Amino acid sequence: MKAGKVDVMARDSLILEGLVTTVRPDGHFHVAPMGPRCDAAMRQLLLRPFSTSHTLQHLLAAREGVFHVVDDVLLLARAAIGRLDAGVRTMMAKEVRGHILLDACRYYEFKVDQVDQSGERAELHAQVVGQGRLRDFFGLNRAKFAVVEAAILATRVHLLARCTIEQQLDQLEPLVDKTGGSREREAWQLLREFIREHPLAPSPRQEKQGP
Ligand SMILES: Cc1cc2nc3c(=O)[nH]c(=O)nc-3n(C[C@H](O)[C@H](O)[C@H](O)COP(=O)(O)O)c2cc1C
Repeated sequence: MKAGKVDVMARDSLILEGLVTTVRPDGHFHVAPMGPRCDAAMRQLLLRPFSTSHTLQHLLAAREGVFHVVDDVLLLARAAIGRLDAGVRTMMAKEVRGHILLDACRYYEFKVDQVDQSGERAELHAQVVGQGRLRDFFGLNRAKFAVVEAAILATRVHLLARCTIEQQLDQLEPLVDKTGGSREREAWQLLREFIREHPLAPSPRQEKQGP
């Protein structure tokens, strides 16, 4: 590790699930849920996008983006299945060429300074070069947690056996019913429909670990 670098693999670093915006080659912004590993001070991020992801291609080309801490799981669910509203509100980032989602709680503008593509998933080490707070984080809520888990499953329908997905959804659903509000319920319905409509994986296949 180079002098002055925070070790994002240190024991107190953790994976923070959020949304990354990148800039597409045509100049429009792209939004994808991502779970980078972060140091406690949020000075550095270790992003691990799949080699097939648009986010990786955009980051390799532009070497910068914006990571958002969110509590709006409907926004996250929509981004996960590529059904974002046309009316997603953004403003331009200050320290990078990028876009900030105005419905996020906090955002971190970052520049990629190291890329390792030797493994199955690329590892992009990034320095946070600007940040801001838009509103308070709502707080811990089990329905929000359940939607995050379902959104991860929705992005893995092509990898996981249908019965595994359905089992996990059945376990999570009571959390949404008992503790969620209208946005959590809408997000849940959207994800369940997406998963139901998705063609079956030719399972059983070797299942991959979550992000
Ligand atoms: C909460 C959450 C976290 C995720 N984290 C990652 C991640 O760290 N790396 C990754 O490649 N995909 C991750 N995914 C899946 C991607 O969002 C999904 O595959 C997406 O379609 C790929 O991004 P793209 O739109 O840039 O192609 C995550 C999904 C969710 C719902």
